[in-house]
Amino acid sequence: MAVIPVITIDGPSAVGKGTAARLVASELGFHLLDSGALYRLLALKTLRLGILDAAVHGAGIARLAAALDISFKPVDGRTGIFLEDENVSDEIRTERVGARASEVAAMPTVRSALLDLQHAFRQSPGLVADGRDMGTVVFPDAAAKVFIDASSQIRAQRRCKELSAKGKNVNIASLLREINERDDRDRNRKVAPLIAAGDALVINTDDLSIPKVKEKIIEHVRRCIPGLAADN
Ligand code: C5P
Repeated sequence: MAVIPVITIDGPSAVGKGTAARLVASELGFHLLDSGALYRLLALKTLRLGILDAAVHGAGIARLAAALDISFKPVDGRTGIFLEDENVSDEIRTERVGARASEVAAMPTVRSALLDLQHAFRQSPGLVADGRDMGTVVFPDAAAKVFIDASSQIRAQRRCKELSAKGKNVNIASLLREINERDDRDRNRKVAPLIAAGDALVINTDDLSIPKVKEKIIEHVRRCIPGLAADN
């Protein structure tokens, strides 16, 4: 049976992986896995249940991860993210949920509980998966791996612009602090830390536009999966 190709896009928070992954998946007609959304959904669930101490409630949080009732459905031409049939697409994007996600994501039992769910996204004709450990842990056999990076100042500026455009009141200094704190936790945790896979193409996007980033990824994918050029 032919192996279903996976393209992994890893990188730190607010680097534009999600946008790049969506554009690449759409160009190739591949499925999309936003793995950060899974950690964010679990984080939201724990916040709603008032489970705040990961050290004390570790086993319970891992059980919640294994039984997470989530779905992705189209809403107004975009993918809506649902927790127990409630559309929580906006709520999971808050910095509070993001910070909580990086705490629960540091728990080894949570990470292994979410593995099968992530593998289930590997469906024909192919998958684009974005996150922190897609190329290193979840899909080490991926056909093409990319690691996107940018300085934390640039990422904070981009996030600030994005939130201001949505009419939100933002403070760049606190955004930068949150980004740095989350990066620290993600890079320094014991399991599946944020790191580029040895065989990943590293792209620094400080001076690159989104279309240019997408173009570089597609070029890399076509080099790694030559057969793709004819069909997609
Ligand atoms: O990518 P996003 O910012 O939505 O991810 C939220 C948090 O989930 C990250 O800060 C990280 O701690 C965690 N995460 C992870 N592994 C992934 C994806 C996300 O640990 N593959």
